[in-house]
Amino acid sequence: MANEKKGWDPNQLRKYDLNLEQIPRLDYGDPRVDELIAENKPVVITGSKLVKSAEKWDIDYLEQHMGNGDFTVFLSRNHKFKYYDEKKMAQKSQNGENVKGVEFSPPTKKIDMKLPEFIKRLREWKRGDERLYLQQGLNNTVGPAIVHDFVHFDWDFCNSKQAKHHWGPLTSNLLLIAMEGNVTPCHYDEQQNLFAQIRGYKRCILFPPDQFDCLYPHPVHHPHDRQSMVDFDRPDYNRFPKFKEARGCETVIGPGDILYIPIYWWHHIESLMRGGYTVTVNFWYKGGPNTSITYPLKAHQKVAVMRNIEKMLLEVLQDPKEIPPLLRAMVLGRYTE
Ligand code: OGA
Ligand code: ZN
Repeated sequence: MANEKKGWDPNQLRKYDLNLEQIPRLDYGDPRVDELIAENKPVVITGSKLVKSAEKWDIDYLEQHMGNGDFTVFLSRNHKFKYYDEKKMAQKSQNGENVKGVEFSPPTKKIDMKLPEFIKRLREWKRGDERLYLQQGLNNTVGPAIVHDFVHFDWDFCNSKQAKHHWGPLTSNLLLIAMEGNVTPCHYDEQQNLFAQIRGYKRCILFPPDQFDCLYPHPVHHPHDRQSMVDFDRPDYNRFPKFKEARGCETVIGPGDILYIPIYWWHHIESLMRGGYTVTVNFWYKGGPNTSITYPLKAHQKVAVMRNIEKMLLEVLQDPKEIPPLLRAMVLGRYTE
């Protein structure tokens, strides 16, 4: 590991049985940065001033200037914060019947919290307490000092990446404030991501879209759509045997680093243990238009195709339980030996 002048040590990393290479770290002026982004490959970009105006965003500053708005905070009884889509959870009719959606008990609780309350709980937290993770899109409820810092992000830098690589519009900037040791389990997003680290260190483990069959995503209609079913802490190799073969890459990012997370790339992100809290702002962009399609399709395009087929099957069959027998009948003995 290239650990020169780093502010963390390897025993702050959780242990996984995974085969991982290092993600390249390149200065923002290095021409190879744009070569990698053009190929949809991850890269850590160093030395940029993208979020330099936010380098003072510690919890005291944020408490003082964030305003009195409500922030979305997730609570977890363990270190994992697995995302779920509330719209895909079972909805009951008035007489208590499931109208549609999956019967599901969320692994984390999502609540609104004022920032002072969040920070108080962060400061007073001790082992065994519920963990907290603030994840809030930056919006117009923030105070003028934060607006000032936001306006002074290096927008030329990210606008030029967006233009050069034909990304769609910026959709949001998510502010993430995590407790040490918090983990966002492995998932992929349908957006391009410039993931800008402001405070503390995060370890990011990424897998390319072609690792789909090693990572076993939940079905598309499930609230955990886009999330891996594999628990990295205790992989069930009987259910998920190909997880053993998963090939990915990793890095640890610190203040000032930007990790480019390509659209459809899997990522698992952990705030290092015993590292205090972490602050990150991400820049999420829609993917670009599919200008020229060449064959064979790229892995991420095939993932998009599979998503569409799953959605279409549910649309026509109505009941997710009817999907596996239909797919089996279609494939077994006809497309298998
Ligand atoms: C993301 C993401 C999680 C985290 O920015 O896409 O998954 O814990 N972030 O930072
Ligand atoms: Zn993500």
